[in-house]
Amino acid sequence: MNHNNSSSAVDRPESGSRVPLTLAITGGKGGVGKTQVALNLALVLARQGYRTLLLDGDVELANVNVMLGVYPGMTLEHVVLGERTLDEVLLPVTENLDLLPGASGVPGCLELDSARREDFLAQLRTLEQGYDRVIIDTAAGLSTPALHMVAASHLAALVITPDPTSLTDAFSLVKVLHRKGYRRTPSVIVNMARGATEAQTVYRRFSTAVSRYIGVQLHYLGAIWRDETIAQSISTQRPVAMMDDSDPSCRQFWTLADMLAVRCSQGVAPANGFARYWGRLVRRRHQQRSEQQPQKAVATGSNREWLASLGERLHRSQGDPLSRYRLITGILETLGESVDEDAVEALQTGLAAMNWEEAPVTVRRAASEHFRQLARVVAPPEGLRPEEGRALGAGADASGEPATEDSGPG
Ligand SMILES: Nc1ncnc2c1ncn2[C@@H]1O[C@H](COP(=O)(O)OP(=O)(O)OP(=O)(O)O)[C@@H](O)[C@H]1O
Ligand SMILES: [Mg+2]
Repeated sequence: MNHNNSSSAVDRPESGSRVPLTLAITGGKGGVGKTQVALNLALVLARQGYRTLLLDGDVELANVNVMLGVYPGMTLEHVVLGERTLDEVLLPVTENLDLLPGASGVPGCLELDSARREDFLAQLRTLEQGYDRVIIDTAAGLSTPALHMVAASHLAALVITPDPTSLTDAFSLVKVLHRKGYRRTPSVIVNMARGATEAQTVYRRFSTAVSRYIGVQLHYLGAIWRDETIAQSISTQRPVAMMDDSDPSCRQFWTLADMLAVRCSQGVAPANGFARYWGRLVRRRHQQRSEQQPQKAVATGSNREWLASLGERLHRSQGDPLSRYRLITGILETLGESVDEDAVEALQTGLAAMNWEEAPVTVRRAASEHFRQLARVVAPPEGLRPEEGRALGAGADASGEPATEDSGPG
């Protein structure tokens, strides 16, 4: 069967541009089988005739490459640095499947001058448009690049295993995504299950907890059994999806690909896709940087005295979280830096320690204004503007399923 036609891309958000269906394979914990799933699923999609791009989003260069026995040495970061072209780092794996190593290196292009940056982003867009499917193997944990990969994608598949720590880590991931405004329905793949009953039990336990405590509905994409052939495929460097498709180990990934096709046929909400998402993010970051530059010059010149008395003021503000909060944001502004998410977390903890009931109305009003400013810093997540978030939410929440191709923002 050959699915290779232009209608395979799900989304044409801007005139003339097409975004391939993008699926992020993720999961809170390391070693749950994200790379096995991403690589084997990508291989099957390629065998089905989809032009497929596999993005190795891990920070280390030790994932897909090892499983295939290819050691390119060159990654997307070398393209960013201008040492290689995209074509030079792109690795053809099989017919219809290419591998792009080092996909987490895109933010490095922030350091380029605008002409080179735009050139790089245009190359990335052109590359992406040549594919029907993009599979992203994300790094483990709650790293910012991994969250961005999920935000860029049409679908996210969380890989969990019967190991309870994989469930708690995946739970944290859903929680963080939800807190950051992610409103799509995550899919779940149960890996290393010892049969259908265990897979169902694990999924049910996880989805019940996620629904009850986070209020997020999940979608069951499928299961991959604990399988010795899969484990051994690392040393033979021959992924199971390269085997004959009648082989049971290989067959599992065909079933998973079929489940993915069913999910896609139900409609997925539009997403930016990898290249356009990063393009927007990088441009926005760059704009923020240039807006901050003049403040830096003004602030450092005029606040020497204020800085000199800082120690004393910080000391005096002990027990007064609002004053401390103002001081700390003041310091950050003086240094010309914006408040990053870790700082926000720390400041919020300080504010949460306040005795709100007894605070005078002027203090509460001032604090609420600060909260509004904080909200503008931390939400919505990059790449998901508030109106996009709402539109996706409208499509996804009512039925528990994502909006159809045509109903989201264009
Ligand atoms: N279904 C399975 N049956 C048996 N072994 C498996 C299965 N899935 C994965 N493994 C093995 O588990 C180990 C971890 O798998 P993999 O590298 O794909 O995990 P990962 O989530 O990508 O890890 P990391 O977070 O470190 O990138 C590997 O040795 C792999 O071969
Ligand atoms: Mg991996």
